[in-house]
Amino acid sequence: MPPEIIKGLKDVYFDTTTSSFIDGQEGKLLYRGYNIHDLAEKSTFEEVVYLLLYGKLPNEQQLEEFDQTMRANRRIPDEVIQVLDLVKASHPMDALRTGISALAAFDPEVKDNSVEATIRKGVRLTAQGPTIVAAHHRLRQGLEPVAPDPSLNHAGNFLKMLFDEVPDKDTTDLLDVDFILHAEHGSNASSFGARVTASTISDLHSAVTTGVGVLKGPAHGGAAEEVMKMALDIGQPENAEEYCRNILDNGGRIMGFGHRVYKAEDPRARHLRERSRVLSEKVGQPHWFQILTYVEEEVMVRYRSRGIFVNVDFFAGSIYYLLGIPDDLFISIFALGRIAGWTLQCAEQFEDNILLRPLMEYTGEMDLEYTAIGDRA
Ligand code: ACO
Repeated sequence: MPPEIIKGLKDVYFDTTTSSFIDGQEGKLLYRGYNIHDLAEKSTFEEVVYLLLYGKLPNEQQLEEFDQTMRANRRIPDEVIQVLDLVKASHPMDALRTGISALAAFDPEVKDNSVEATIRKGVRLTAQGPTIVAAHHRLRQGLEPVAPDPSLNHAGNFLKMLFDEVPDKDTTDLLDVDFILHAEHGSNASSFGARVTASTISDLHSAVTTGVGVLKGPAHGGAAEEVMKMALDIGQPENAEEYCRNILDNGGRIMGFGHRVYKAEDPRARHLRERSRVLSEKVGQPHWFQILTYVEEEVMVRYRSRGIFVNVDFFAGSIYYLLGIPDDLFISIFALGRIAGWTLQCAEQFEDNILLRPLMEYTGEMDLEYTAIGDRA
């Protein structure tokens, strides 16, 4: 009797979690029990990281202390800057992966896999991640990295390190919400990858490095970059129908649509849609939002009955683009938000660990006769 193969581990439950709840049919997402809509509208990224890592919303004093810890941990060692300089020609996600890996050499608790140390390391990595991404972006332009600014919040400091300019409040708030929306998402591919690494009792830096590598692909975090490329190729709303038709008729996919779990609209998309609309009008470039709206409402509307709706990446790319962020940085921004989620997933894995090691049915040849190299055709 051949084993039942569950390709892509679709719909397989492999453990329990208290990290996030997703109802894919209803389009509902909770972080630690709190609705993503409340968090996106009322919280800050710092508060959400605290919620994810410590399991409850902070009071004012707890938030203040946590925020100070985050601000105090933003610097990365000069040696890591030198490593980033050596790999400055690489894609920002490759640089982030390399930078996080290099940070392991300088973290005093790298080998401590207790839940407490894992959370402390996750806080440090969340604080240091933006410094890696911004430093690499400056170095690849032949510019000096900008030092972290402890007077700015997490999102504002990242933008300042990227562009050497203090961002306005609207821009900071936009990125803050974007980080919140990307912070955690259950057993997505990159978090699962991170958990597999943690399950061998490796360490958090290795697991987050895994997470960055898994997130990079266009079937996961890479979609935002592809969506904006598509919008640029389409150019004007009236070209959208033919452009998408060509892709779909040839068996292709429209990036930013579909999801393994959501068969209704991804609840995170709502917040980015509205912000993309407002921003595109504010900067006097409404046609990008019009193109995306056309693709969503006129072309992909036909796919809704098959459970294919916009996902979080569809409007994210347009926001980054309109903020003047280069397209190859889009996935890195996703990753910076997700370090908190990867940390939480790894802490859960370490707390009640079992090696994650599934099986594959062998379908190759059996018991072949070994031929010496000189006798082979
Ligand atoms: N455009 C057109 N058709 C699609 C799309 C899409 N974006 N997504 C899925 N489909 C179709 C598939 O062609 C397939 O059709 P078929 O049954 O006729 O062969 C059907 O829907 C099911 O697709 P699967 O790939 O089997 O579904 P899966 O759950 O494995 O895919 C995935 C999920 C990879 C996200 C897919 O929807 C996709 O490739 N989307 C585009 C990339 C993207 O936006 N990724 C970001 C995901 S969100 C995130 O990671 C943050």
